[in-house]
Amino acid sequence: FTVNWDASAAQKGGWDSYMDKEIHEDPQAVADTLLGRFDTNGDLNLDEVRIDPETFRQIDKIIIVACGTASYAGLVAKYAIEHWVRIPVEVELAHEFRYRDPILTPRTLVVAISQSGETMDTLMALRHAREQGSQVLAICNTQGSTIPRESDAVLYTHAGPEIAVASTKAFVAQIVAAYLLGLYLAQVKGTMFRDEIHQIVDSLKVMPEKIQWVLDTQAEKVARAATSLVDAKSFLFLGRHVGYPVAMEGALKLKEIAYTFTEGFAAGELKHGPIALVEPGEPIVVIVPSSRGRDLLHNKVISAIEEVKARGAFVVAVAEEGDPDAERYADVVFYRPACPTLMSPLVDVVPLQLFALDMAKNKGLDVDKPRNLAKSVTVE
Ligand code: AGP
Repeated sequence: FTVNWDASAAQKGGWDSYMDKEIHEDPQAVADTLLGRFDTNGDLNLDEVRIDPETFRQIDKIIIVACGTASYAGLVAKYAIEHWVRIPVEVELAHEFRYRDPILTPRTLVVAISQSGETMDTLMALRHAREQGSQVLAICNTQGSTIPRESDAVLYTHAGPEIAVASTKAFVAQIVAAYLLGLYLAQVKGTMFRDEIHQIVDSLKVMPEKIQWVLDTQAEKVARAATSLVDAKSFLFLGRHVGYPVAMEGALKLKEIAYTFTEGFAAGELKHGPIALVEPGEPIVVIVPSSRGRDLLHNKVISAIEEVKARGAFVVAVAEEGDPDAERYADVVFYRPACPTLMSPLVDVVPLQLFALDMAKNKGLDVDKPRNLAKSVTVE
């Protein structure tokens, strides 16, 4: 698959970079990854995955192995799958996995998440898992690539070719595919009632239009924030629960294409050290959980915003539309539509993708081909 890096704007769908085009394909990537995976009665149908239901029923642990953005998709999925299936889900950086002598049994399902399907670290991890007798399932965006070929089964994301080095639409598609796997496991193991599963599926199916809402209504505000913050030397990214991996993904985006020093971490970790980094004017991006239902989480994150504001930080919040506290305490708020907590990463990440893109463009950097990076790291 050769990339025409000098493609005209027309060949990039009218966008001035592949990354811009691909961020705007987030909604379609989610919709296409959902396509064809349900029976007419609404049940999950993963017949394409060549692991029989009885084997799935026997699975008593999942280990997700991945790198970079794919590992953050895995971290998001951990919260959902553990909640739905009630089995432990470990998320391991692939390059650490096999050197820690992991505990693997035939009832362990190792899930290798990879956009390219050629990441050597992830390939070596799945080879190790298979040698140890575990089942390996690939979640991959590239048909026929090495990782799915060497796995027992594959659940493809259908994000379409992702050209920009910085992964965007593949990230949201990976979360959706991992959620489909989790819901399927809940279905075959009977850990959730069918109508509960159908309700979650229905909330997944409306996410493309919620992502589109963010793209349509928040892009200008994000661009303005990127202009005002273009000279910032560092950013902190904070999140809680599923917002924590989103914070790390947002930090990685800014790092890899705007070459800005960033750190993403769990908001609860702030007082255990990172708050020492906060000085007047320090931009801090905070993923704010919905104020509906999980008020406890919401209030704790709002108090983290108050703490850093008290030390002069400049707070950029990503919050649910109409959240009064975010409006009150943050300097800038990127809004996203209301949705269940487990669905929020699919919309929370979008302004962070756009923000990194705008920051890199403001700096005159090569958005699609950032320095020192390759689209697929095919060496260990
Ligand atoms: C993400 O923007 C980076 N390009 C990088 O972290 C990437 O996610 C990682 O190298 C894994 O690649 P893969 O999904 O193709 O395995």
